[in-house]
Amino acid sequence: MKKEELFGIDNFEYLPMIRPQTEKLLVGLLQKHKPKKLLEIGTFLGYSCGVFLETDKDLCVTTLEKEPQNVEFAKQNLKNFGARANVVCCDALDFLQDAIKKNEGAEKQNLFDFIFLDGPKGQYLKYFPLLKNLLSRGGVLVADDICFHGLVQKDGQVKHKHRTIVQHLRDFLETVKTDEDFETQIFDFEDGVLVSIKKN
Ligand SMILES: C[S@@+](CC[C@H](N)C(=O)[O-])C[C@H]1O[C@@H](n2cnc3c(N)ncnc32)[C@H](O)[C@@H]1O
Repeated sequence: MKKEELFGIDNFEYLPMIRPQTEKLLVGLLQKHKPKKLLEIGTFLGYSCGVFLETDKDLCVTTLEKEPQNVEFAKQNLKNFGARANVVCCDALDFLQDAIKKNEGAEKQNLFDFIFLDGPKGQYLKYFPLLKNLLSRGGVLVADDICFHGLVQKDGQVKHKHRTIVQHLRDFLETVKTDEDFETQIFDFEDGVLVSIKKN
């Protein structure tokens, strides 16, 4: 998939899509772990979803996007992948809560073996216990933009408008890193990527 060929964009450089090193890391992880069911939070125009689907013809992706206009563009961009690309227009939190409810009691139908978190950064902390529940053993969780323009690691005062999001990201990183069920690595290129493997 090429960014410049995406339907619905003029100048792709400044749009919020995975960047080259992050893309390379993700493709490498997909080739290594060979997931069959991937959940993505944050579709935008479907670029990263298309990259994932191109790695393996047996991979299916469910990708969540709250903006209807983005969903329309993404569906257009992903139409060649047919039913392997499931673009869902929803608030991610509603989807996650619903998926967990559907798993209760019955055999767990809604498990994913790879989750890519690239939605609202201030919500990663809230999503984490739900994602943990929906990730199969041996599954991979990747979260993009964990440095939030470098502010998460920076010492000193953070501007008021970014304070909550930066604190939530710091708490998210601490929570994942200290969770004994996960083995976690942080990559500090681009805006920072967390890769976490669920061991138990
Ligand atoms: C960084 S972009 C995703 C980019 C995409 N993963 C890519 O690399 O091509 C984040 C997307 O998350 C969507 N988003 C933000 N909050 C959301 C929410 N609560 N539920 C679902 N989608 C959300 C935004 O509308 C935006 O399109």
